[in-house]
Amino acid sequence: MTTVDRPSDGSRVIHTEDDSIYLRYHDVAAPDLHRLYENAKRDQWNVTTDIDWEQPVNLDEGFVADELIDIYSSSFWNKMNSKEKAEMNRLFSAWRLSQLLHGEHGAVLVCGQLANVLPDADTKFFMATQVMDEARHNEFFQRYLTERVGQTYDQADTGRELFDFILADSRWYIKTIGLQLIGETFAVALFKMLADTAKDELLREGCKLILRDEARHMGFGMLSLPEQVAQMSAQELAEVEEFTVYFLRNTLTGGFPKEAYLDMGFNKTEIQEIRDLRKQKAQGNDFTMFRQLFKRDMHHTLVNNLYRCGILSENMKGRLEEELRVNVAEHLAAD
Ligand SMILES: [Fe+2]
Ligand SMILES: [Fe+2]
Repeated sequence: MTTVDRPSDGSRVIHTEDDSIYLRYHDVAAPDLHRLYENAKRDQWNVTTDIDWEQPVNLDEGFVADELIDIYSSSFWNKMNSKEKAEMNRLFSAWRLSQLLHGEHGAVLVCGQLANVLPDADTKFFMATQVMDEARHNEFFQRYLTERVGQTYDQADTGRELFDFILADSRWYIKTIGLQLIGETFAVALFKMLADTAKDELLREGCKLILRDEARHMGFGMLSLPEQVAQMSAQELAEVEEFTVYFLRNTLTGGFPKEAYLDMGFNKTEIQEIRDLRKQKAQGNDFTMFRQLFKRDMHHTLVNNLYRCGILSENMKGRLEEELRVNVAEHLAAD
């Protein structure tokens, strides 16, 4: 049972029983993990100096691609004038990027815990670099939202639930599956899409820099999990599968940017209509090209990462196909 206190300043205090393993010996035991650590040291970048924060942004255009907004091309959208469309884009971008901001902050915390609970030097050292990476990502979105978008929203329930759970669970592999496998697979697909399609050049640049780090983070999960999963009892594996499906569903169906639509002036009935519209779009194939590509890309990486980590039993395949509508066979065959 996760116990969370919520002080009045908006932060959350998640109570944990994590162990801190203080090592006596620090020799390299896993050269592939050590190599990831070396790469991380080599590839550090700086939010302050590697991004041109002075470049102008066209506020008549907006930030992310309009096609990402649920109401794009609907009657709600077609009724708006160009100024309203730009404002809708701003509010939607603020909500979407705020979720990334909060996720990056959660990643700082989870990796800090992992540096404590992991049992050897190679993994601890790598986690120390991931803490730094995630702090930079956190910093990027904080600055981007404050200086350019001018608005920040709270974390959606889906993200909050995942992070509270993995921060409170003391098992390192649950934290790693939650963050490096579920969270980062989703984030990498999203960053790739933003790096290709965002209207604001600065956002595209920032996402490209972040992606360089995320590939290493996903790599950590791929290197560390298979051995652990192979040693699990049937009961532990069943628990891992349950956890994975639950949070994948959370992540894939995602939060709904209700607050952004409220701020745009939509009333409750209209927002319900937008919610229904979104559901229809997700179920049908009424997606623009790059939204389809995003979904495909994410499902492909997800299926293959689960396979590589040993979390793709026949039972898991069935649940992914039936409950989450992921075409497992096609993605496995394509790799
Ligand atoms: Fe990150
Ligand atoms: Fe990351």
